[in-house]
Amino acid sequence: MKNLLSIESLSREEILEVVSLGAAMKASRGRHAEHPLRHRCWGLIFSKSSTRTRVSFEVGIRELGGDALFFNGSDLHMGSRGEPVEDTARVMGRMLHGAVIRTFSQQDVETFARTSGLPTINALTDAEHPCQILADLLTIQERLGTWRGKTICYLGDGACNVPASWMWAAARLGDFRLIIAAPAKYRPSAGLLARLGASANVVCEEDPAAAAAGADVLYTDVWVSMGMEAEAAERLADLRRYGIDERLVKRAGPGALVMHCLPAYRGKEITAGVLEVNADTIFTQAENRLHVQKAILSLVAKGG
Ligand code: CP
Ligand code: NVA
Repeated sequence: MKNLLSIESLSREEILEVVSLGAAMKASRGRHAEHPLRHRCWGLIFSKSSTRTRVSFEVGIRELGGDALFFNGSDLHMGSRGEPVEDTARVMGRMLHGAVIRTFSQQDVETFARTSGLPTINALTDAEHPCQILADLLTIQERLGTWRGKTICYLGDGACNVPASWMWAAARLGDFRLIIAAPAKYRPSAGLLARLGASANVVCEEDPAAAAAGADVLYTDVWVSMGMEAEAAERLADLRRYGIDERLVKRAGPGALVMHCLPAYRGKEITAGVLEVNADTIFTQAENRLHVQKAILSLVAKGG
């Protein structure tokens, strides 16, 4: 694997390889036989805020023997003075050994990867959040034994990056059912649904109670994604029926997981009570970012 730019660009085999290597990384933490990033310096270029992704990549790079340099959007001429992505990429390509990028445009990450020639990892764009969903697959495997044959119900903003990566995971893996519960205005775009293809096993449902009925996993994300702050009041009003509360959890299947990629806004997409009851799953989700991203780092560093 040369880069990790999206789930869309992965094969079923690559997804399975990342999840299984992530599980192995977790089991052998602190005792790794190989340090594939030894003597390598990776850059983290983040134009949006981050807690989990930044910490897990910085720790992961160090645990694999490498060094990490962090740049926020305004540190670089690219963010503050309009230097083209291509020029930034050509400079970094001559100095660094890899890049992890969190930004707005998916195109910018793809341009950076192509122009720099560096192994490049998408740490979230407006289009996808691939590392999150790869880590979530590991969490579901740990908690339910497998995701195969399960029904995963995503509730909230169905048009943002997290559900898009879930939809591509459903399309590529082809072995679970995904329900996107969202009002019509926040449905995945018709273009994306068409690109997924009919075999993706993705269903859109406007009624949150019907969507949650019998589900194995209830999954949510913030209602106001980074970059959408100007629409905050409208989004909070439009999405208020889609929060995960005790009543919705009762509609899900017995032993259903409640998952949240975090950060959480209690009383909005999830109640404080549901979050606390499910905190062990939700914070294991966060921890698994570290293990799965170490798998991704070692696969792209080897370039195989
Ligand atoms: N879930 C996630 O990506 O968290 P951060 O925004 O804190 O990195
Ligand atoms: N959809 C959210 C994910 C945060 C991890 C956002 O883009 O802000």
